[in-house]
Amino acid sequence: MSEKWNVYESFQALLELGPFHIALEVILLAWVVWLLVAAKSRPRSIKLTKKEEEQLLAEWTPEPLLSSTPDPNHPALHTRTVHGKLGHYVDLGNGPLLNLASNDYLRFSENKSIEAAALECLHQYGVGSCGPRSFYGTTAMHIELESRISEFFNVENAVMYAYGFSTMASAIPCYAKSGDVIFVDEAVYFPIQRGLQASRSRILYFRHNDTEHLKELLEQQARDDKQDPKKASATRRFLVTEGLYFNTGDICPLPELVAFRRQYKLRFFLDESCSFGVLGPTGKGVMEHYNIPVHEVDLLMCSLEYAGATTGGFTAGTRFVVEHQRLSGLGYAFSASLPPMLAASAKQMLDVLEEEGSVLAPALRDRCRQMHKKLLEALPAQVTVVGLEVSPIKHLNLSAVTSLSEEQQEKTLHKVVKEVEERGVAVVVASLRRSEELRPPPPSIRLGVSVKLTDQQIDTAVAALADAFRVVLL
Ligand SMILES: *[C@@H]1O[C@H](CO)[C@@H](O)[C@H](O)[C@H]1NC(C)=O
Ligand SMILES: *[C@@H]1O[C@H](CO)[C@@H](O)[C@H](O)[C@H]1NC(C)=O
Ligand SMILES: *[C@@H]1O[C@H](CO)[C@@H](O)[C@H](O)[C@H]1NC(C)=O
Repeated sequence: MSEKWNVYESFQALLELGPFHIALEVILLAWVVWLLVAAKSRPRSIKLTKKEEEQLLAEWTPEPLLSSTPDPNHPALHTRTVHGKLGHYVDLGNGPLLNLASNDYLRFSENKSIEAAALECLHQYGVGSCGPRSFYGTTAMHIELESRISEFFNVENAVMYAYGFSTMASAIPCYAKSGDVIFVDEAVYFPIQRGLQASRSRILYFRHNDTEHLKELLEQQARDDKQDPKKASATRRFLVTEGLYFNTGDICPLPELVAFRRQYKLRFFLDESCSFGVLGPTGKGVMEHYNIPVHEVDLLMCSLEYAGATTGGFTAGTRFVVEHQRLSGLGYAFSASLPPMLAASAKQMLDVLEEEGSVLAPALRDRCRQMHKKLLEALPAQVTVVGLEVSPIKHLNLSAVTSLSEEQQEKTLHKVVKEVEERGVAVVVASLRRSEELRPPPPSIRLGVSVKLTDQQIDTAVAALADAFRVVLL
């Protein structure tokens, strides 16, 4: 037998491999050739003369940082400036206006004892804390406030944030991670949306306030989990809602949500920001409103920038759950802590609310109902009042004027606000980052009803609103 390489035999062997194999070999060969050619023709660095360089630089126009320049007349570029103390009245430079623009529902911003507590602390601790909590930013006042909050809500532990927005935006991603599932009411406000986004979890939105839809989603998840038990065992399920919705003035159906939490083993995060000081016999919030014990919720989140009349926020719950944020809550660990005097004012605010909440909260709700009733009577038909009767947050939107684009609606509402101001009352257009919000509600004027409004002031405010809408819409 010849050991010599036989061309004919090799060719035969190749043919036996079949057309697919041959095609593959040809492609591989072509690729090798292409690589060799491409390597040769790769551009070498080009030497430019000084003049050519300058010409290139002169010709270069950078891409704009933003896609479009905002309208120079946009109201957001003309912020109203408050002169002096803000309270039941607000001065925008042309004398006092009745304040229906703030979320300070209980008017704690004007309470003398709260102010005195802040002043006393100011003398003791100075203006700012100048450091995050773990870096000399923890004063005795912060510790006292956290234990006061725990006592107030009857929970084991509470964590203070220096900024209301970052409370939710930090607390949610501190627990929920990629691979987890979060069930959320689609109407939740911006701070929660940002927290959801940062968590990188799978977000399942249920229709606003619709427990039937939530149940469908939960059932679907349960079926999926059954099909893939291995994945299911690594997936944590969360439920996030607000007690009283900032964007809609609605109360959440808490009893059903709590039942779902048990049935489907959900970790339930409840935002009490707008319900705090408002709902419940003593103003403790939506849990008190429904008489649901605090251990039915895994994490209570609350901004103190509404009825609390200060800045910052807190989360509260069991020690086991809450302590995790002290190392992993970004807004907690990496922001300078709340100025001690604001911690002192928050602590005093809780004392006042504990003492007077059983009078204040029902009185506030009474004012809200009165305002609601008068608005329904007086406003022209093109305006809808959105929100429950007892809600201090009321949105006025343009219901029947559907021919207007959202931008035009917003412009119209800004005109109404101006007219209302001329009639001695301060209100605001709900400011939303439309392009960034998940499901932005329609443009609206947002009212903040306060406990101090007299019947006569409500009449004045409603008349001003009704007149202004008529003037602008006609
Ligand atoms: C505010 O502070 C005073 C003490 O100066 C207190 O008597 C009063 O009841 C407080 N409450 C409210 C709601 O204003
Ligand atoms: C939302 O649910 C609450 C509690 O069930 C109810 O009182 C309220 O009317 C609902 N709002 C809407 C808009 O469905
Ligand atoms: C105003 O709010 C109501 C109730 O939420 C809603 O049905 C209506 O569509 C809103 N108006 C506009 C213009 O979107």
